[in-house]
Amino acid sequence: MVFYAYDCCVKQPILEMNDNSSTGTLIREFARLYVRDQRNHACGDAASTVQCHLMTELLREDGLTQQALVKRLGLDKSWISRATDALVADGTIKKTTNPHNRRSVNLSLTPAGRQRASLLDAQLNKHADQLLSSVNTEQMALVRAAMQILLPAVQNGTVSTCAPIKTRPAKSLSRLHVLASELLITPASKTDWPAIASLLQDLGLPLDGAQEHIHNFQLIHTGDNFLGCAGLEIYGKSALLRSLAIKSEAQGQHCGTRLLHHMINTAGAAGVKHLYLLTTDADAYFHKLGFEKIDTSKIPAALQASRQLQGACPASAIAMLLKIKKTN
Ligand SMILES: CC(C)(COP(=O)(O)OP(=O)(O)OC[C@H]1O[C@@H](n2cnc3c(N)ncnc32)[C@H](O)[C@@H]1OP(=O)(O)O)[C@@H](O)C(=O)NCCC(=O)NCCS
Repeated sequence: MVFYAYDCCVKQPILEMNDNSSTGTLIREFARLYVRDQRNHACGDAASTVQCHLMTELLREDGLTQQALVKRLGLDKSWISRATDALVADGTIKKTTNPHNRRSVNLSLTPAGRQRASLLDAQLNKHADQLLSSVNTEQMALVRAAMQILLPAVQNGTVSTCAPIKTRPAKSLSRLHVLASELLITPASKTDWPAIASLLQDLGLPLDGAQEHIHNFQLIHTGDNFLGCAGLEIYGKSALLRSLAIKSEAQGQHCGTRLLHHMINTAGAAGVKHLYLLTTDADAYFHKLGFEKIDTSKIPAALQASRQLQGACPASAIAMLLKIKKTN
């Protein structure tokens, strides 16, 4: 059987697919045309496409930072920034400074904004239902079963992505008081992966390749209370520091700095001389701790084996280097 995917504007066959097309190709083609149709017909709201994305993400999880939205939506920082400003100006969302980290601003829907976003969400769901109205009941049961199989794979980040999409309910950000004297840093084991993966997803950091290097991950905690993690990918005398992440409710209490110093010492003890990292927006933080910005082309070929470098991180990521001295 041969069938065609049609460009909805020009009504020309644009991709010929047949029984030999891989399932992945079919999913991609469906997703591409579905999103296009959604953009053309579903958004009755006057908002731009980026603004629509922002509203629906905040409806899923209120209080996200601009940084988390950039990572989650995989869109340019300046686009998100412009869309945020427009939605703040028309009263759809409000900005609140995170009391635990002055540099972090949380975005949330105002009551009017929540109403607007809910309406938009309902329109998008209606559009999806209309699109599937030609599918009969029996086939619909198959579509539902397929979706129930595919969704967890995407939600758990098994599908490699820079901006993992999650649909977990919003967590309340009650402050977690950390006593410096109770802090412990210990090596991660395979059984720690679910906690690590969940934290990286929460903070919008890439999961790609992380599990392969779990033997070089360290956890910071207070006994039973897991607070954060960081990992090293070691390639001879060069290494990549990755996945430095502290739970939002424990940030700003020097856990990150303490763990970072530990990772630098661990790397130094393993004979690493050059420690690299990629970050989209914590460059000021790493600079304070001795890292210098470098051109991404300066990252040595040995590190190109890293899955984080092979595409897991956005093109806008900043590369940084710390030359490890004996005294670090
Ligand atoms: C970046 C991160 C690891 C820092 O951990 P932390 O425990 O909150 O940081 P600390 O308490 O050690 O911070 C020390 C200082 O750095 C500042 N700082 C924290 N995050 C910062 C950022 N993104 N940019 C600039 N400064 C930052 C803190 O405000 C604090 O400043 P102060 O001493 O003047 O009060 C943590 O905020 C985090 O997990 N962020 C999300 C994930 C991320 O971006 N990871 C880095 C990419 S690998």
